[in-house]
Amino acid sequence: MLIRLDKLLADAGYGTRSQVRGYIKKKCVTVDGQPAQGPEQKVDITSVSVEVNGQPVFYETESYYILNKPSGILSASRDGREKTVVDLIPEPKRRDLFPVGRLDRDTVGLLLITNDGRLSNRLLAPGKHVEKTYRAIVAGELPENLTEIFAEGIDIGDDALTASSGVNVLEAVEREEYLTCCTENGISAPAEVEEGEALHRVEVVLTEGRYHEIKRMFEALGCRVVFLERTAMAGLTLPADLARGQARKMTKEELIKNLGI
Ligand code: URA
Repeated sequence: MLIRLDKLLADAGYGTRSQVRGYIKKKCVTVDGQPAQGPEQKVDITSVSVEVNGQPVFYETESYYILNKPSGILSASRDGREKTVVDLIPEPKRRDLFPVGRLDRDTVGLLLITNDGRLSNRLLAPGKHVEKTYRAIVAGELPENLTEIFAEGIDIGDDALTASSGVNVLEAVEREEYLTCCTENGISAPAEVEEGEALHRVEVVLTEGRYHEIKRMFEALGCRVVFLERTAMAGLTLPADLARGQARKMTKEELIKNLGI
């Protein structure tokens, strides 16, 4: 794969494009032992050796991480002003990574981070119907025919009803348990839950991804999602030993095998 030298060095974490152009100009960068010709020089990293100040540049064409997203972090690439999910990846200064889809700022759990646009499209394309599984704590009275309502699709104010989705009420949750869950997840401002108000842990399986979709689905039924975690994407489940805020590198083969796509 041919790639511009300045892009390669910026993606590999050597600085911004203008910073790496400076290194190239100062002859700090060599390609197969020769000073680089310029930032626009195209190199095939699989067949040449690029060095910066005599140190080899390691550049992976594709990288994959599974992140256990904590609450309060923006699902975006680098933001400049705010910490993002990409900042939680333990490789400093990677500029080519992005999250596969978005979770709301207060949603926690499984998020893939990659630089592989094709895989991302494959997982997110509307026609692919890749399942995403969530665990929510929902406040308010749930309708008795919740399963049918979710299966039929819900009017959340968009042009079309939501796609048919799965829902399973797992258990009732005590208010104290909800507050403990917030503390454990570093949520400093839990939702207002009235004493005696019904709380349930619910599992939802979506095959599409609209803005605030689960929150809006329950809102349309007169309820409130007060905690939301993504636990799986296709066949890939959030590893129990991956703490909130931690990311783990995966190979493409491992990821595809786990996803089962
Ligand atoms: N649905 C939501 O409402 N929020 C998310 O973050 C994901 C799905």
